[in-house]
Order: sequence, then structure tokens, then C-alpha cells
Amino acid sequence: MIAQTKPSPQAAAAAPAARERRPAAIQAVRGMNDVLPDEAGLWEHFEDAAREVFGQYGYRNLRVPVVEATPLFVRAIGQVTDVVEHEMYTFDDRLNGESLTLRPEATAGIVRAAIEHNLTYERPQRVWTAGPMFRHERPQKGRYRQFHQFDVEALGFAGPDVDAEQIVMLARLWRRLGLDGIRLEINSIGDPDERRAHRAALIAHFERHRELFNEDEQRRLYANPLRILDSKNPALQPAIAAAPRLVDSLSDPARTHFDGLQQLLAGHGVAFTINPRLVRGLDYYNRTVFEWVTERLGAQGTVAGGGRYDGLFEQLGGKPTPACGFAIGCERMVLLMQDSGVVPAAVPEAYIVHVGEQAGKFAATVAENLRDAGLSVVVNAGGGSFKTQMKRADASGARFALIVGEDEAAANRVAVKPLRSAGEQVTLAPGELAARLAAQGEDSGAR
Ligand code: HAM
Repeated sequence: MIAQTKPSPQAAAAAPAARERRPAAIQAVRGMNDVLPDEAGLWEHFEDAAREVFGQYGYRNLRVPVVEATPLFVRAIGQVTDVVEHEMYTFDDRLNGESLTLRPEATAGIVRAAIEHNLTYERPQRVWTAGPMFRHERPQKGRYRQFHQFDVEALGFAGPDVDAEQIVMLARLWRRLGLDGIRLEINSIGDPDERRAHRAALIAHFERHRELFNEDEQRRLYANPLRILDSKNPALQPAIAAAPRLVDSLSDPARTHFDGLQQLLAGHGVAFTINPRLVRGLDYYNRTVFEWVTERLGAQGTVAGGGRYDGLFEQLGGKPTPACGFAIGCERMVLLMQDSGVVPAAVPEAYIVHVGEQAGKFAATVAENLRDAGLSVVVNAGGGSFKTQMKRADASGARFALIVGEDEAAANRVAVKPLRSAGEQVTLAPGELAARLAAQGEDSGAR
């Protein structure tokens, strides 16, 4: 039992001061952002459009954990990559000491799940997933430590028809969102044999420029020379520009695949440029790689990227399964939508202002009936004068204020005041409201 003692006079005097001494507020972790309601509408607008367009092409949702065993990412993404070497949030399970990692991307987890559940046993699968990814990068505009992706994978398709399908699907998504100025870059990084030959040629080439290398590049020269092509080291750019290009020495099957992709894209009217330097930052790719890039976001202009990864299933212990996929960076999409003036219409149709007890009950019933009719309605909460409530109605963005005082409640009537157009205020019976709001909504929307 806790002994109850009376506080001393000194303690009692100090109590108010103690109450005022608030602890310091805790802030979000650097590089990990809140999405506040004013911005979340834009996120939802993008997510709804993505889900709808992916669904139109037969892609179905699949959800995988945010935490996976660390070796999954090391094996899939590659030991000598920025992501695995520098950027993973890795920790030991506190009970059994197993090394776990917050997913830096979704493809590895999806392939793990596909193998574990034998997902492609009967037929190939088109799937998508969405959610947070974690990379310990230096935060800046468009680059964060927790960021979000919409990730799409076609599992069990050898292409190039499915490679083209995914690119055409993205072009449709940009159109659906009213975005332009996103250009497409494609490349082929070939198959394992020519990649091995290219690797040897790259090492021979870069050995002649070793004096320009920083520490990372020294190490990567023999471990993963392809990554040197990604280097931002300014001194190295001329050597990178002069490096042998894999796209010039593709095997016949890889060349046929790449030509096929280009013909399909041209047939769909999707413009592209071939960027022989496009290699992507993850090691699992072969043949097709692509990125959608905008100039409007500064240095972090790649809004989506992906490609083919025919060897990954086997690398992770599964049966050989060709596959292709991509991911869209949601933060960059939202930045681009803001820059392009995309405005989602996520505001309520009506805000109900009510003064008086009977009016409050009547307002709640009216709101429920309007919601039954599919309308979105906010009921004033927390009281307030008529004037205060009208200000809130305006700030809510609603097109109409529905006004109920005691007189209206007694007469079973509601006053309808347009907030975004010059229309007259009218008084209606509850049963007339839904049709009137919908009709007037179209009026004011067209204005
Ligand atoms: P990724 O190129 O690493 O590919 O990432 C895809 C997209 O995620 C990027 O184009 C970018 O928009 C966004 N992104 C990446 N890192 C950050 C960051 N730190 N902050 C904000 N946005 C970021 C992949 O992740 C592959 N798994 C894509 C894929 C799926 N390939 C085949 N299937």
C-alpha cells in the first residue's frame, strides 16, 4: 500500500510551478516525416489512382512484412551496393540474436513470399504492394530515411511484353494524374554471360584511372565494377563516359528482347530514350532496366524505377522464374503533383451548423441520412456561436453550409447556404437535401 502523506506547505507552494515545467517535446526521427491532413489528400489521390490503374491491368495486392531477415536483402540487393553497405537499418532480435532489417525496398520480400507460398506454381502472378521503406541516406528534398513506395511485380513472365505492359501502365498513371514532363529512360544490362565479359572489360578500363578513385571506388573496382558507373565523383565522370557499354555487346537473346521492348513501346506511342549508362543501384537486374525522370524535382528526379530480375528467384532458393517490376517513390510523386498544381477534391459536400439542443439532434439525423445517400458531411462539434460555426464551415472547404436552429428543427426544415458560389440560400425538407446538394454541387463545380 502506498502511504498517503499530506504535502508540506513548501511542496504545495511549489506544485503549480512544477506543473508548468513541461518536459521537452519529442520530435520525429530525422528523415522520417509526418504526413499531415492538408497533404494527405494528395497522397490518397495518388494512391487511389495507382490502385485503380494497376487493377485495370490485373495486378492484385499482396502485403509483406516491414521487417525481414538481413541475409534476404544482402543476397537480393547485393553485398557491394550503397543500400547494403551503408543504408540498412539492421538490428539483432533481442531474444535469439537473429539479424533483422527494416526493408529498404519491397522486391526481395515479395520474391521471398512468392517462393515461400509457391505463388507461381499454377500460373504467373501480377502483384503490387505499398508501404514504407527505410534507407539511412542523407536526407534532402525528395530523399528521406523513411519513404514510401508503390511497388509492382510481374512474377513468372519472360517478357518483353510484360516489361512493356508495366511501362505503358505507368504512362497511363501519369496521364490519369494529369502529370506531364516525366521522361522515360531505358537500357538493357544483358544476361549473366555478357555481364561477366563486360565486368572484366570495365575492370580493365577503370584500372587505368585508379588514381582518381575514392576509397569506396577502390574497393568496388574488383568487387562490383558496375557500381562505379553510378559514382557521382566529378573527377571520374570522363572515365565513366568512356567506359565500355554493355548495350553494345548484348547476346542475341538479350538484343532480341531489348528490340522487342522498343517496338512495343513505339507501338503504344510511349516515347523513350536509351541511356546506356543506366545501371540502377540494386544488383538483381538483368536485361531491361528503366527509370521515369523529371527535371522538376532537382537532384532527386527519378520518380519511378525498375526492370527485369530473371535470376532473383534462384538466388533466393526458388525455382527459376523470370520476373519484372518497378517501384514509384510516393514522396516524389506528391512533390511533383504539388509542383504541377494537382488538387484533389477531398472536401466534404456539406458542413452542418446547429444551435440549440433539439437542433443538435436533428442535425445528427440529417447528416446520417445524407451519408446514406453517399454524401460526405461534417457536423459541427464542440458548440460555438452561429458566427463561429459559419467560420468553421468555410474553413472546412465544404461547398455548402446546412443551417439548423431551433425553429428549423421544430419545422423539420434545413437552410442550405452555398459557400463557394453566389447561389441563394434556400430552405428545404430533409428528404429534398441529397438531390439538391448533388445538383448544386455539379452547378458550382462547373463554374
Ligand atoms: P529504387 O530505384 O531503389 O528501386 O527505388 C524506386 C523509387 O523509390 C525511386 O525511383 C525513388 O522514386 C524512390 N526512392 C528510393 N529511395 C528513396 C529515398 N531515400 N527517399 C525517397 N524516395 C526514394 C527499388 O526499390 C526496386 N525495388 C524497384 C523494383 C521493383 N525493381 C523491380 N521491382
